[in-house]
Amino acid sequence: MIIRNPKPWHNERSQITSKRLYLKRRHFLKSLIGVGIGATAFSLTGCTQSESEQALKASLKRPKISPLSTNPNFSNLERPITDEKLAGSYNNFYEFGGNKSIWLKAQDLPTEDWKVEVTGLVKNPKTYDLDEIKKQFPIEERIYRFRCVEAWSMVLPWVGFPMKALIKAVEPTSKAKFVRFTSFYDEKIMPGPTFHFGELPWPYTESLRLDEMANELAFFAIGIYGEELPKQHGAPLRAVLPWKYGFKGAKSIAKVEFLAEQPATYWNTLMPNEYGLIANVNPEVPHPRWSQATENFISEGPDLSWEIKETQLYNGYGEYVANLYS
Ligand code: MTE
Repeated sequence: MIIRNPKPWHNERSQITSKRLYLKRRHFLKSLIGVGIGATAFSLTGCTQSESEQALKASLKRPKISPLSTNPNFSNLERPITDEKLAGSYNNFYEFGGNKSIWLKAQDLPTEDWKVEVTGLVKNPKTYDLDEIKKQFPIEERIYRFRCVEAWSMVLPWVGFPMKALIKAVEPTSKAKFVRFTSFYDEKIMPGPTFHFGELPWPYTESLRLDEMANELAFFAIGIYGEELPKQHGAPLRAVLPWKYGFKGAKSIAKVEFLAEQPATYWNTLMPNEYGLIANVNPEVPHPRWSQATENFISEGPDLSWEIKETQLYNGYGEYVANLYS
């Protein structure tokens, strides 16, 4: 007999949004995020709907990762998995632009012969290519909730390995207290957003405390929906930290450094009062410009629509991470 413990992210029917609230929220988000919302998620200027769809499909068609099994601790059946085309056409990747429709531009990302340098305060520094990563680390599928600081959320089936496996391989020294992830950057192919906050501190960087990185949930993704990562999702390797806001999960990682001191990071350098270094999902701590008490859950396509749900502390993953923040 299977005994099911309802997980914190289980949603009662009463939590499902009324139409009025839904429309109000949709209007709010339109003004908040601007481009892309309300439009067919993947339509391109100058293309028919079906041409755009074909191009999007092609960008999402990646080699399968097999054999593959889903980690039963993270099989999250309580919420539907977000539609693949929606997730692959509603992205944040500021190197390619400041709106959600960067999937086509992101196809310029050069992912061949990718190398990830793992360096800093470690006993065994090493530069990995993707084949070595696939051979050396225990690849599995984990279905995680994903929560952006902009208050939209999805459920995504990532493929990858726990970050603690990398820690074990490179053996950080006792001086290492933080890790920094640095995304690939090339200004010739990455135009950046058109809005300006002054000088943008490229490359995109993010960091974790070492004990956060060693937590069971911290994950490096090399794939999604059973296939290698599409470029718009941060191919070929990105960080996925389901208890934190999405901006902590650096895409297209080229360097992982173990450090003694907390490093500066991209968003925290730009807007320290809006994007903290810890950035755990927390309904009680509003963003200075909007509430985080509820989230807009995006599930089915092809058109973008939302269900409002209550935000849960640590995105519902408190049983894994609450002890890190006593
Ligand atoms: N990584 C890089 N290099 N550049 C980015 O702009 N955006 C972050 C994160 N990682 C970002 C990034 C933000 S704000 C979010 S919400 C997620 O990527 C979005 O991931 P997705 O597009 O795969 O949903």
